[in-house]
Amino acid sequence: MKVLVLGSGAREHALVRSLRLDPSVTALHAAPGNAGITAEAIVHACDLTDATAPVALAREVDADLVVVGPEGPLVIGAADRLHDAGFAVFGPSREAARLEGSKAFAKDVMAAAGVPTAAARVCDAVAEVEAAFDAFGAPYVVKDDGLAAGKGVVVTDDRRAALEHAVACLAKDGGRVVVEEYLDGPEVSLFCLTDGTSVVPLQPAQDFKRVGDGDLGPNTGGMGAYSPLPWAPADLVDDVVRRVVQPTVDELRDRGTPFVGIVYAGLALTSRGLRVIEFNARFGDPETQVVLARLVTPLAGVLHAAATGSLADLPPLEWRDDAAVVVVVAAENYPGPPVTGTPIAGLTEATASPDAYLLHAGTAHGADGAVVSAGGRVLSVVGLGTDLREAREAAYAAVDLVDLPGSHHRSDIALAAELGEVRAP
Ligand code: AMP
Ligand code: GLY
Repeated sequence: MKVLVLGSGAREHALVRSLRLDPSVTALHAAPGNAGITAEAIVHACDLTDATAPVALAREVDADLVVVGPEGPLVIGAADRLHDAGFAVFGPSREAARLEGSKAFAKDVMAAAGVPTAAARVCDAVAEVEAAFDAFGAPYVVKDDGLAAGKGVVVTDDRRAALEHAVACLAKDGGRVVVEEYLDGPEVSLFCLTDGTSVVPLQPAQDFKRVGDGDLGPNTGGMGAYSPLPWAPADLVDDVVRRVVQPTVDELRDRGTPFVGIVYAGLALTSRGLRVIEFNARFGDPETQVVLARLVTPLAGVLHAAATGSLADLPPLEWRDDAAVVVVVAAENYPGPPVTGTPIAGLTEATASPDAYLLHAGTAHGADGAVVSAGGRVLSVVGLGTDLREAREAAYAAVDLVDLPGSHHRSDIALAAELGEVRAP
């Protein structure tokens, strides 16, 4: 199978790594890639802000399967164009991707499908935001309605800060915000494969969204993750498929816009039960790095089955019992505008252990061929072990060997879970 992966983050590097290990993959292409992906796949230029550009590339490489990593190309209809051109494509249509692209749309689908989620109000004006704050009380949760790379959400007890964020979002062209009830309890990310009808869950993971240890500081795209979740209820995955993902997939199919790809359910296990925080229409980053680290079943056939409506025929997925922890090394100033162009040393040393490996995100080759930082989240460092303690040790030992001046990372990824301090209500 000739496979083309679109995207340039550590998530795409994880996809490329798994696909490269799949013997059924005879040619592996990626675009636009990064310095790490270049070592594992044939990398091409491709403007992912142009919905038609991937079609030309898929023709050039004669792809049997196109895997769309990020949400950007999906919400502008890249999967539709690829599908119309006759390619098997893993990723939803533009209409189905609104599940991620518009929080208001997602709320509408959830209401129609009876999916439990936070009470919310869609607001077009400041007065409506104030009224919603009065109705829900603190902590205040304000979300930009459109895509914001994980940075459009403010959760705070400070009403003035919450209002300032709402005003800034509303000031954008067509700006709308969603104000929500606050959800307590631990968060879970569950990715489910779907071909529009059948749903196959992957293993759950937990993501760390805030930039600083102890969940302090602003939200980011994600600073680390781990899987499995030793504290999660045994029936969690079945429960989420039955009450959340299958009804959502059914609702979208009934609307005439079946969803093909990954439904990413971001969940809170609250004192009042399971609630959806958000949906994404793609693999999550950095959770994918740990979920794929544990998947034994070769990936290409799995993604191809979803892309071609044959998930029901897929044998059950096989998983390693091992634990995986990923720690994101971020550039100076991230999640603000990152410092880029900084040479990274220690990359070879950091992969010397068999229990750790590096996945690249914002990296590029500098003028002299050396690897330099080129984005906010620079590297995903994955550690493996028989349990979370070992996996954490492996990941952090490798992080310590990476030398990116000015960089920062969280030191508490998976720590509370390792210590048995995370409790589902
Ligand atoms: P989102 O982009 O919707 O996933 O939000 C990013 C992060 O903000 C989530 O992972 C949560 O940590 C937090 N968050 C979002 N919505 C809520 C909510 N209703 N209650 C509490 N925290 C939330
Ligand atoms: N891990 C969060 C995201 O991918 O949006």
